[in-house]
Amino acid sequence: MCEKTEGLSAESILRGLYKVKTKVIKIKEDNINWQYIEEAGAIIRSGGLVAFPTETVYGLGGDALNAASSGKIYAAKGRPSDNPLIVHIASMDKLSAIVREVPEAAYRLAERYWPGPLTMIFHKAACVPVQTTGGLETVAVRMPSHKVAQALIEAAGGYVAAPSANLSGRPSPTAAKFVMEDLDGRVDMIIDGGEADIGLESTILDLTGEVPVILRPGYITEEMLEETIGRVDTDRTILDGNSSQAPKAPGMKYRHYAPKGSLVLIEGTQVQVVSYINEQLQRYRLEGIKTGVIATDETKDRYLADSIKSVGKREDEEQIARQLFKILREFDDDKVQMIYAESFESRGVGVAIMNRLLKAAGHQVIYLQ
Ligand code: TXA
Ligand code: MG
Repeated sequence: MCEKTEGLSAESILRGLYKVKTKVIKIKEDNINWQYIEEAGAIIRSGGLVAFPTETVYGLGGDALNAASSGKIYAAKGRPSDNPLIVHIASMDKLSAIVREVPEAAYRLAERYWPGPLTMIFHKAACVPVQTTGGLETVAVRMPSHKVAQALIEAAGGYVAAPSANLSGRPSPTAAKFVMEDLDGRVDMIIDGGEADIGLESTILDLTGEVPVILRPGYITEEMLEETIGRVDTDRTILDGNSSQAPKAPGMKYRHYAPKGSLVLIEGTQVQVVSYINEQLQRYRLEGIKTGVIATDETKDRYLADSIKSVGKREDEEQIARQLFKILREFDDDKVQMIYAESFESRGVGVAIMNRLLKAAGHQVIYLQ
């Protein structure tokens, strides 16, 4: 059994929001300061917000069973309140209290991939407020592997609602300094736990239908899931910008991860891509427009842009995943107006990388072959 937490008044939410002095603390994963964890847990238990590290990206945490805390999360992010939050747990015994039933497939996936970068969607139990689930009767649940996240969740009472700790629409933060950029003065505490290992948000798998469906690709790929539970489908809207269907994860319909400059993806052979991008760059430079390129180690020296950023070696997808959001933010700092990006193969983690890039580009792609 789980119970809803007593709510705060609307007035105290607003008061809390706009006058917060954000405390920043450092906690190392391999040497946890339990006094800090206790302090952070107490903030969440009393209805406050704490941003914290996970292995995917930083989360903006509040008490998942407290409707008012979820309200605060939406306000702090400037997030539409129909976009549901993920409930984070730290142990398997916490799951059954917040969902109507745990399907067999979920046990098998949890055994294999929890704690880790996988979120599963279930029918929700009554104690989970609809404010947390964006009005839905389903709830997304994840058990992160980051030790600081686990300690915080335990100290906070076991159920922490946490979207990525960015302002709505901006790239998810992969380090505490990016959380500061977006949320300083909007949250009670930020826990700095170093750089995120994975750098892209968790894979989201919907287990409420007949066939499990991936609603957001991530580090845990379709193939990895199928190895464990058999057939898994992927929501068709994920890589197809022309699909007329609405994505099933409400958050996936919003413009996201977008740098302030305009971003266009270029597909083709390496030679084609480099020469096409350079032609465009020259044109923009003549017009006095500041340009940028998302390149790879193999091509970074061949471009003539104002700001050239390599995501790493083309073959090293994990490195690309880790760097992508940081680079999208850096273009904002450089005040770049026009950005070109190379494309990546939609295979393995590449599916998630391309999904985030396509969303950042608002699905603007130029195919050269
Ligand atoms: O890696 C992650 O998942 C990070 C870290 C902090 O755990 N969290 C994260 O949360 O990325 P957020 O809120 O930025 O993204 C959650 C996504 C949204 O697209 C939302 O629409 C979807 O999950 N989602 C949540 N609950 C859902 C539900 N019941 N049904 C369908 N989609 C859901
Ligand atoms: Mg997010």
